[in-house]
Amino acid sequence: MNLKIHFHLRLLKQTRSMIILAVETSCDDTGVSIIKVRNSKINILSNIVSSQIKIHKKYGGVFPSLAKREHQKNLPIVLKKALAEAKNPKVDLVAVTKGPGLEPCLWAGFNFTKELAEKMKKPLVLVNHIESHILVNWLELRNKKDIFPAMALVVSGGHTILILMKGIGKYKIIGETKDDAAGECFDKVARILELGYPGGPIIDKKAEEQRSRGIPPKFKVELPRPMIYQKNYDFSFSGLKTAVLYEFRSKSQKIRKSNNYITEMCLEVQKAIIDVLIKKTMKAAKDFRVKSVILGGGVVASKELKKRFQESGTEAGFKVIYPSAGYCTDNAVMTAITAFFHQGRKTKNWKTIKVNANLKIG
Ligand code: KG4
Ligand code: ZN
Repeated sequence: MNLKIHFHLRLLKQTRSMIILAVETSCDDTGVSIIKVRNSKINILSNIVSSQIKIHKKYGGVFPSLAKREHQKNLPIVLKKALAEAKNPKVDLVAVTKGPGLEPCLWAGFNFTKELAEKMKKPLVLVNHIESHILVNWLELRNKKDIFPAMALVVSGGHTILILMKGIGKYKIIGETKDDAAGECFDKVARILELGYPGGPIIDKKAEEQRSRGIPPKFKVELPRPMIYQKNYDFSFSGLKTAVLYEFRSKSQKIRKSNNYITEMCLEVQKAIIDVLIKKTMKAAKDFRVKSVILGGGVVASKELKKRFQESGTEAGFKVIYPSAGYCTDNAVMTAITAFFHQGRKTKNWKTIKVNANLKIG
């Protein structure tokens, strides 16, 4: 067995328990979580997420300096709640997201956690946010065999990225979006259709409404599937958003206000995004002869996306792994789990460590 994978499996089997406190503030969610790992079992002692959706709704997206201020305000409250819920355990390790993410938001969490680790006199581990969207899958993973090599797809508000995974910590980016991320596309389309923020869950709900009607559509909405037949593993979603804008503008006020039209548009947008994500991921999975496909990121919260990936994966002979609903969007459990796997990477250079808004994986 590969030495590194063997090391990670041994980590999970260790008998002494380890308690990790993690903070995540890469975007607009303030998250603090405390987990306990013992004998390959990860127990969540607390997982508090304070969402800023109400504040950013007005702007139709996240306003970074405002988000930073909210994080600074929320962090002490969220920490207090997380500690109380976990019954003030003896923490062994502290972790925080280093990047990628919105720089002011990352700094808010980083400064807060650094001070906390210093006060607690505990080691600090800095975590890659993309990696944590993948490794959160280990929370509920029962069968840890036949996973690697794996093709991981992270689809969030900031990223759409395909990563070849030879093991935990062994990553190679093989494709990513050239412009907007899939979640960003959902958010921008929702803004065009005046549906609110964040767009992903709203469009998901409207698409489901249309699907459950089970009648032929009243309006025919056809959108492109950008880059679907290109041989590379890259994505592009900004053209799809523009196509929605032109399609929407071409309709009369009356049609634009019709719920039937909106639900049909949402269904088609969702189909277009899922079609491209599946085609590219399955092609990459086949080309690199992987054993499993691992999904992560806010967009994976969509039941339809998971269902379609499961169908395509089963058909092609891949194990499809994804987090349960609450662990797709940002939370600090994912940060804590990633720190567990990288517990050896303790911060030494306290004075010079920094966040990195463009931190790469691999
Ligand atoms: O991972 P995440 O919480 O934050 C980032 O790291 O970006 O992802 C947020 C994104 C948003 O763009 C949101 O619209 C999208 O995930 N999202 C969804 C769903 N729930 C959240 N997209 C599609 N369907 C959903 N059910
Ligand atoms: Zn995220």
